[in-house]
Amino acid sequence: MAHILSLVNHKGGVGKTTSTLNLGKALVRQGQKVLLVDIDPQANLSQSVGMDNPPQSIYEVLCEGAPPPLVEIAPGFALLPAELSLSTAEGKLISEAVTGYFKLQNALQALQSQYDFILIDCPPSLGILTINALLASQALVIVVEPQYLAIKGLQTIIELYTRLNQSLGKDLRLLGLLFTQFNRTVVSKNIMDQVQQRYPGLAFDTVIRQSVKITEASAMKQDIFTYEADSSPAQDYAALGSEVLQRLNKN
Ligand SMILES: Nc1ncnc2c1ncn2[C@@H]1O[C@H](COP(=O)(O)OP(=O)(O)O)[C@@H](O)[C@H]1O
Ligand SMILES: [Mg+2]
Repeated sequence: MAHILSLVNHKGGVGKTTSTLNLGKALVRQGQKVLLVDIDPQANLSQSVGMDNPPQSIYEVLCEGAPPPLVEIAPGFALLPAELSLSTAEGKLISEAVTGYFKLQNALQALQSQYDFILIDCPPSLGILTINALLASQALVIVVEPQYLAIKGLQTIIELYTRLNQSLGKDLRLLGLLFTQFNRTVVSKNIMDQVQQRYPGLAFDTVIRQSVKITEASAMKQDIFTYEADSSPAQDYAALGSEVLQRLNKN
């Protein structure tokens, strides 16, 4: 049965999409079967693998009960794409009251036996799409940049996750906090120390370094391993893959 993980932060530009793609590929390289799910109306994850206008997307899955239209990226590596119409899904889902929050959970249930991992790339909000992702997941990874305001947002996500667990009897696990776009500044170091003090053991040991290689890979619509397997961010995402497996006790 697949581990279903959501990559979350209501702030945009922190590295959720980049991390979903590259953690996914790192896990594939470690022998895992991986499905990526794009639930962001901006559809950056889908675009980042060259799926710009998928004929069918997660929109039809959430709003019309269609079967998930999966696209193979590589052997053992698949995508459930999004496209821009997903921006109209929020209103429709909210109008369905409580069932609107469980659409993704229902859709992924049938796929769980076919993958080792399902990674969900969330939109930059904590609205009904992100809640669909969290309710479908067993665990979440909070993606943050080591900058001062990032810590405030962290508490908001932790509160949401705690509330979902308490009010819905969920057993959602906070698997870890992932620092991305790390550079060797005093600010980065300070923030990481503060987080370590306040939430001991929460941050992954692996930190994703800032590198122009990420931007270059994304311009080529490639994951970082395909683009440059010995680059620093490729090494970091490979280490993250191992750490995720370790935290889940899969190796
Ligand atoms: N480690 C990194 N080094 C350099 N640039 C990065 C890194 N991670 C992400 N980026 C860049 O930062 C921007 C935002 O990343 P993205 O993954 O799209 O964030 P989000 O999905 O949280 O909005 C993108 O342009 C991406 O290429
Ligand atoms: Mg994104």
